[in-house]
Amino acid sequence: MKKNLYINGKWVEAKEYRPLHSPYSGEVIAEIPFAGEEETELALQAAEQARPVMAKMPAHQRASILEKLVALLEKNADECARLIALEAAKPITTAKQEVARTMMTYQFAAQEARRIHGETIPMDAAPGGEDRVAFTIRQPLGVIAAITPFNFPMNLVAHKVGPAIAAGNTIVLKPAAQTPLSALFLAELLEEAGLPPGVLNVVTGSGSVVGERLVQDDRVKMVTFTGSPPVGIGIRNKAGLKKVTLELGSNSALIVDRGVDLDNVIPRAVTGAFAYAGQVCISLQRIYVHQDVFEAFVEKFAARTKTLKMGDPLDPATDVSALISPKDVDRSLNWIEEAKQRGAVVATGGVREGNILHPTVLTHVDPKAKVSCQEVFAPIVLINPVSSVEEAIGYVNDSRYGLQAGIYTDNIRTAMSAAEQLEVGGVMINDIPTFRVDHMPYGGVKESGMGREGLKYAIEEMTEMKLICMKK
Ligand code: SIN
Repeated sequence: MKKNLYINGKWVEAKEYRPLHSPYSGEVIAEIPFAGEEETELALQAAEQARPVMAKMPAHQRASILEKLVALLEKNADECARLIALEAAKPITTAKQEVARTMMTYQFAAQEARRIHGETIPMDAAPGGEDRVAFTIRQPLGVIAAITPFNFPMNLVAHKVGPAIAAGNTIVLKPAAQTPLSALFLAELLEEAGLPPGVLNVVTGSGSVVGERLVQDDRVKMVTFTGSPPVGIGIRNKAGLKKVTLELGSNSALIVDRGVDLDNVIPRAVTGAFAYAGQVCISLQRIYVHQDVFEAFVEKFAARTKTLKMGDPLDPATDVSALISPKDVDRSLNWIEEAKQRGAVVATGGVREGNILHPTVLTHVDPKAKVSCQEVFAPIVLINPVSSVEEAIGYVNDSRYGLQAGIYTDNIRTAMSAAEQLEVGGVMINDIPTFRVDHMPYGGVKESGMGREGLKYAIEEMTEMKLICMKK
């Protein structure tokens, strides 16, 4: 299967193509265009030319294109899930959930398109403001560069393309090199849904050529990026006066107080740690458990982990499949070894089978071990005992990252106090940090990023407020 670039409503041949390999089997699954400077320039020109078309398009028409897209996604849901499973090695059941979420994301984008509004300003509240009527409107920014990761190849694209269209912008999308097929399929569906040429351009290739060019080009008014902290920080430093939204990584943590029903917590915590082999920005990486229930927790957690089925992502029985690249398996094993040398105990896992890393549970992990203080992005979770929730909060906050955190407790005062103290973008009380529905504000503090996604909030980021003031 050979794919082309999608520029100005046409499928454009690239000068270079590279094979795309299945992360699970290593087989070649497609030939992917590898764009250079020239093709990126064509995409930028197309997005710039389409700017007035989108700026003039009424909200109901933007909403209607997004609604048609939702209908097409529903019709093609099986194919979408198959593509995600194939290129990302995401187990097919999880891939199907991603497709359902993608439909929801575009549905919310369509709804939000219809309610973008400003506010009236009481001008006479200040001396000198008398006899004036003023209000704000929100206008599209223009060309938005969207750079997306491999881990949710449809839904994290939706979180950028959906609000950009809803707000009347045009887009140059650079999907992750490992997962371009879902993004190219989306372009097909949006064309069928009636999106005018040039509004969405999909340019596959490397970050150092395509990404660099998009970040530095003056026609681009905003860069929206999801990916690793070092790349995100590099983008922020190079973007000049462009708006920048960064959804970066984390080493998300969960606090488990004494007195909670462990049988309720364990299944959620195992899902949070091992869904999509831990390759989720809010994957559960650190668990701090009250010492009174620590041993019981570890025993039940390890037992449940051992029931997870590993294998082919296309097999509906599979829970955990391959990591995105063999070098990530190597890195994970090195990090496990380093933790062991610092005193960690392996409760289960720690071995590879092809490109699959067995779900790994470590206890008594030194906070300075990489599996604790860096983003692991693999099926590895640590469980450490604490003497109090306060102590646990200290460990959670002792991190470069701050995306989401969770706390299970039966005490409302403890819950609220923790929620106030935790240095993160979102706190889940009586749930894991690995929780997201697509309209909620989502984003982090510290090295986890800046700005918020979630349709309403992303649209705020993707529009400029203008004041209109009229003297009577
Ligand atoms: C992410 O990995 O950044 C997104 C997580 C999600 O949408 O569930």
